[in-house]
Amino acid sequence: MDRIILAIESSCDETSAAIIRNDEVLSNVISSQTIHEQYGGVIPELASRAHLQAISLIVDKAMKDSGKEYSELTSIAVTTQPGLAGALLVGSSFAKGLGLKLGIPVIPVHHIEGHIYSGMIEHAECDFPFIALIVSGGHTSIFLVRSFGDEVILGSTKDDAAGEAFDKIGKMLGLGYPAGPRIDALAKEGNPKAYVFPRALMHEQHYDFSFSGLKTSVRYFLQREFPQGISNEAILKDICASVQEAIIEVLIHKLFRASKEHRIKNIIVAGGVSANSRLREALQAASQKRPVNVFLPKLSYCMDNAAMIGFLGSLKLKYLGEEAFHSLQFTVNPRSIRTERTSS
Ligand SMILES: Nc1ncnc2c1ncn2[C@@H]1O[C@H](COP(=O)(O)OP(=O)(O)OP(=O)(O)O)[C@@H](O)[C@H]1O
Ligand SMILES: [Mg+2]
Repeated sequence: MDRIILAIESSCDETSAAIIRNDEVLSNVISSQTIHEQYGGVIPELASRAHLQAISLIVDKAMKDSGKEYSELTSIAVTTQPGLAGALLVGSSFAKGLGLKLGIPVIPVHHIEGHIYSGMIEHAECDFPFIALIVSGGHTSIFLVRSFGDEVILGSTKDDAAGEAFDKIGKMLGLGYPAGPRIDALAKEGNPKAYVFPRALMHEQHYDFSFSGLKTSVRYFLQREFPQGISNEAILKDICASVQEAIIEVLIHKLFRASKEHRIKNIIVAGGVSANSRLREALQAASQKRPVNVFLPKLSYCMDNAAMIGFLGSLKLKYLGEEAFHSLQFTVNPRSIRTERTSS
């Protein structure tokens, strides 16, 4: 029998719903909350309210786009960690209520695991073991994934995530929130060698990252060189390209070293920052010089989306069986893998 899964994602500022048939994405609807732009960052209370307002419409649209009826659903997958507690509660409560009404199992899904396996959605040829670089707004980590569910963290950022660095530096440059896509666009016409910014920990033998020094370095650079602000578009483009290059070079260097050291040729790079055009280009170029295969999710599976949650839900059913998901006793856990790691 086909697995027809409704997936729900509401961990931060995207309300998303998707329908998955076995491993195939039938629909994927994403609604990004714009209310946070004026504050330069996500306001948790506003995010929860916006999810509550949007969720039934988004789920309805995902159902319609897929051509499936509610009665055909065989399970629901929902993000339960990590994220904003109130935002996670909206998606999880909705999933439990609907699961109860339809009498179908509800599968709790870890958002970061969702990002990891998103690299497999359109790449069935990507087999275990693989190395995954998850580079997003809240995380920058390298995982060694030996088999399904066996994910070992080789290294993580010690401070800011790469996406956070893009966003905070972009804010200093007056680029609004989130600034990652704006920096990406401006950098296309800039010179990545115009300015040299630090590549922290690049040559250390471990796989941890640090991006807060880069942020401070850009702050001092701007105060020193452009105390009145940047009025020249060409200079802004050069700064964007140089900052972007500093981030990307460290990511790529550590990623390929991990693949070499562990002798693993399959590599997944996923999470919001994996949408970065220069990163994608540099990964493809670097992979051609090495005996590796790099798998990137398509752009709509890089940012937060329910398709990756449903895809992982489907893998969980396949590997763990449906019986594992009949209890609705799960709760949400806002803690990121970063805090889980440091507190253990
Ligand atoms: N083209 C791009 N270039 C660089 N950064 C980008 C690009 N597109 C998106 N980003 C960044 O990706 C981040 C959002 O990614 P994502 O939605 O996966 O993060 P999140 O869900 O908030 O965090 P996490 O997944 O760690 O919980 C933002 O920091 C954004 O600036
Ligand atoms: Mg995310």
